[in-house]
Amino acid sequence: MNLKLLIKNFILVGVLSLPLISCQKETTSKAPLSKIASRGKGIYLSNCIVCHNPNPAMDGSIGPALVGSSLELLEAKLVHQTYPTGYKPKRTSGSMPEFSQLKADIPALHAYLESFK
Ligand code: HEC
Repeated sequence: MNLKLLIKNFILVGVLSLPLISCQKETTSKAPLSKIASRGKGIYLSNCIVCHNPNPAMDGSIGPALVGSSLELLEAKLVHQTYPTGYKPKRTSGSMPEFSQLKADIPALHAYLESFK
């Protein structure tokens, strides 16, 4: 193959794959995360994605999408395995374990989830 043809093909492949790259769906949140939100990301990825989606805006294998969860909901669910009064649960399987050891990390988790709004 001569050099000119090689370069031409190289450019063609590059141009054709551009839209593919730019259309890739973001699985993480958009902006640079605040310090607290990036801590929340670590906690989320290491504790929640067995059941919830790595992208909290989408439903996971058994856990529902979590974007928009209030501090109150997170605390009720993680620490007390309940829901705030009047809250209608997205699912009623009752198969989420307790995470009371993460009580102090709830604001960080919340900040991370808020970054998807
Ligand atoms: C073992 C699987 C599992 C893990 C791990 C898990 N969840 Fe869940 N989660 C569920 C399921 C299933 C539900 C649906 C209700 C139920 O079954 O309790 C749920 C529901 C929720 C809800 C209520 C959603 C709503 O609006 O109704 C919140 C909030 C939540 N999870 C947060 C978390 C967070 C934060 C973590 C990580 C610290 C986590 N979950 C880890 C399975 C899990």
